[in-house]
Amino acid sequence: MAPSSSPPVPRHVAVIMDGNGRWARERNLPRLKGHQAGAESVRACLRACQELGVTHLTLYAFSSENWRRPEEEVRGLMGLMKTFLDREEKVLHENRIRLRIIGRLDRIEPRLRDHLAQVVEKTRDYDRAHLTVALSYGGRAEIADAARRLAERVRAGEIAPEDIDEEAVAAHLYAPDVPDPDLMIRTSGERRISNFLLWQLSYAELYFTEVLWPDFREAHFREAVADYQHRKRRFGRSE
Ligand code: IPE
Ligand code: IPE
Ligand code: MG
Repeated sequence: MAPSSSPPVPRHVAVIMDGNGRWARERNLPRLKGHQAGAESVRACLRACQELGVTHLTLYAFSSENWRRPEEEVRGLMGLMKTFLDREEKVLHENRIRLRIIGRLDRIEPRLRDHLAQVVEKTRDYDRAHLTVALSYGGRAEIADAARRLAERVRAGEIAPEDIDEEAVAAHLYAPDVPDPDLMIRTSGERRISNFLLWQLSYAELYFTEVLWPDFREAHFREAVADYQHRKRRFGRSE
């Protein structure tokens, strides 16, 4: 059993869904098949969150840097995003899950962008659970965008430069009402952040697993949460 000082179930879990390409390669399949197989892992995470009482889940689906991949793979990934929306929208309604999308959406093809915006709008009043998808997302871009918006507000005379503090920056991020992640999971054995939620992960506990994303299931999610519950979070304090 976890010690009594251990943290409760994390409120917010963020996931870097990595290893789809390697999963496909191991099976001599095209990379897109690996991405496709990852959809079931997303469902598994949603179920695990519900079961454990994790109310916020953020999934890194496509990074700013992923635009550097071959056009065919990018197109395939965007197509999968559409399929996922078509198939999973009902799950969002049934479970009253609010969907948010974070990232530079101006780079997304208009039809998909409108579709995403529609689902975001239709679920905006739900508050039982919160699913955030990071799409065309980069942590540095998010901070730069916040800085630009703050500068514009200064220029408009709405705020003074002295008003810009951590709280003000946080308030201008893409999803300011979502609490910072308590736990960040990355699959596939890579131990890096890859430009994910740079601001928000400041004090998150990090969990790395060798499991490739398409193989990731509820039991793996539960394992990560159990590991988190054995950590001692200090937030800079000595005790
Ligand atoms: C993660 O899997 C999915 C995205 C980055 C979109 P990868 O495609 O990065 O898989 P690996 O890392 O090559 O195995
Ligand atoms: C991070 O994975 C981005 C997503 C999972 C969406 P990558 O596979 O793109 O990261 P690097 O390139 O290995 O750092
Ligand atoms: Mg990868």
